Amino acid sequence: MTAAKRIADIKSGHVLEQGVALSRSRLWDFERAYYERKGLKAWGEGDVPSAITSNPIMAAAYAEVIVAFLRDCEAAGHLDRSRPVHVLELGSGSGRLAYGLVRRLRQLLQATTLADQRVTVVLSDFDEAKLEQLACHPRLQEHMASGWVDFAVVDAAAPGQVRTWQSKELIADAPLVVVANYVFDSIPSDVYAIRAGVVHDVALTLTSDAPELDRSDAKAISRLRLSWDPSEAPAEPTGHPSFDAVLASYGELLDTTMVMLPTAAMTCVEALANAAGAPTLALVADKGWAHLRDLSGQGPPVVVPDGGSFSIMVNFDAVARVVRAGGGTALLPPHQVQHLVVGAFVLGDLEATETARRYADVLGEGGPDDAHSIRGATKPPGELTLQQALSLLRTTRWDSRTFLEVFPLLYQLVGDANGRSKIDVAAAVHRVWDEWFPIGEPSDLALFAGLLLSRIGHHREALSMFAASIEQLGPNAEAHFGAARAHIALRELQEARREVRAALALNPRLELARTLALELEAELGNLDGGPPVDPKEGGGVAPS
Ligand SMILES: C[S@@+](CC[C@H](N)C(=O)[O-])C[C@H]1O[C@@H](n2cnc3c(N)ncnc32)[C@H](O)[C@@H]1O
Repeated sequence: MTAAKRIADIKSGHVLEQGVALSRSRLWDFERAYYERKGLKAWGEGDVPSAITSNPIMAAAYAEVIVAFLRDCEAAGHLDRSRPVHVLELGSGSGRLAYGLVRRLRQLLQATTLADQRVTVVLSDFDEAKLEQLACHPRLQEHMASGWVDFAVVDAAAPGQVRTWQSKELIADAPLVVVANYVFDSIPSDVYAIRAGVVHDVALTLTSDAPELDRSDAKAISRLRLSWDPSEAPAEPTGHPSFDAVLASYGELLDTTMVMLPTAAMTCVEALANAAGAPTLALVADKGWAHLRDLSGQGPPVVVPDGGSFSIMVNFDAVARVVRAGGGTALLPPHQVQHLVVGAFVLGDLEATETARRYADVLGEGGPDDAHSIRGATKPPGELTLQQALSLLRTTRWDSRTFLEVFPLLYQLVGDANGRSKIDVAAAVHRVWDEWFPIGEPSDLALFAGLLLSRIGHHREALSMFAASIEQLGPNAEAHFGAARAHIALRELQEARREVRAALALNPRLELARTLALELEAELGNLDGGPPVDPKEGGGVAPS
């Protein structure tokens, strides 16, 4: 950016901060303030995208690679059965990934020689309030009670010693797994300019339309203007020899460009691995650049606002160089990714053969990024056949979002389906339900599950789904009405009457419920010895 342009930018707004390194900018404070302010609502209300990083495909693939890493550790004599292995998820957000991960890990480990190895998935965040809420989540209770889930406050920008809440264990003296999905773009990074083989520092100036921005301003990030100014002189040493070596190699290998260095992320992983004092696997997913070839011809960093937060690209190539320089293994997709780079980094002295093999199978190619891309290439959910919709659910590993998308189609098609397909639909509903980790989103998955089960005649199971809908989202006319119909099908007419009345009390205008109530009263009148109802006038209640 030229000096003239910079002055023009500054003149057109209020200067909040001038000439600072990106990692020291106040920009990161606004990001942090957003997450503190929003808490778990950031996911329930859909502000922060998480579908691509927190889904059953990602959880299953991570679990596979973690088990492979543990096998490598076992083969090298690094596992001591008296010491737990921690899977520390940084910035665990909604908790949805951790839930899928712990379920899958338990299934996988049970069937291996590692069945007696204690493993604990630790949900962490810098924001303690979020963790306290997650610790009350009904889906986590059994995993917490059995020691498979724990919590810890960890600031990824300054991790320090990590002690878990429940077991009060220090994360140390055992192999460690670190998971960081969409986190390394939220903590400080730096940017450098490469000009004719020389690396230059880049200073950031923040301007805004207001003289001062409040951390609590929900629109703060979108009110910021950023301008970037490369220094004339070569860059100062970073104080970290391996970062300096990466920059020196970029000076040699890249032409005119700007490169990011995820400084806090790299420092964090190294600090956690040092504290573990044993081989450490870091599984990292973010928007970013995987290869040197992606780094050519780049301009200044693009800060993309997402609701009240922002994202910024992560330079995975730099992380890989630092890890390899330290004797570790860096695994990255061999191709250009579309949406999300998922990398695996093994630090410490370990022959990571199994880890690399599993990574290549489930993350490097055909993994979460490819699955996400291919979703856009399939027919719209409404045009699938029943079998295709079931295949989609299977290949997304019973993803709840996918279920909600194909629900109208399943509901429509399953009515005419044969008995075997109905069995598959019922099984699909149960798999989706077990996999689902509610994050406070408004969609009523339990209601839809109940409606589908009722439609295929599984009325008793449908009733428990309608009850779950009421428990999770509070009394609602649709769930009571669904329960009334299920009771009718089971010939439990008194219970049906109670439910239909509850539905009408909540929504007197629910026409179908009114009709059902009349039919029901007529039938109960008959059963009670009341006046017979003329079927031609619509009396009698048919099982659905
Ligand atoms: C974009 S969200 C990602 C959440 C989740 N991992 C996912 O993939 O959906 C970023 C998360 O990082 C957390 N976070 C931000 N700064 C952090 C820091 N310095 N240390 C730890 N967590 C941080 C936020 O609270 C939030 O949970």
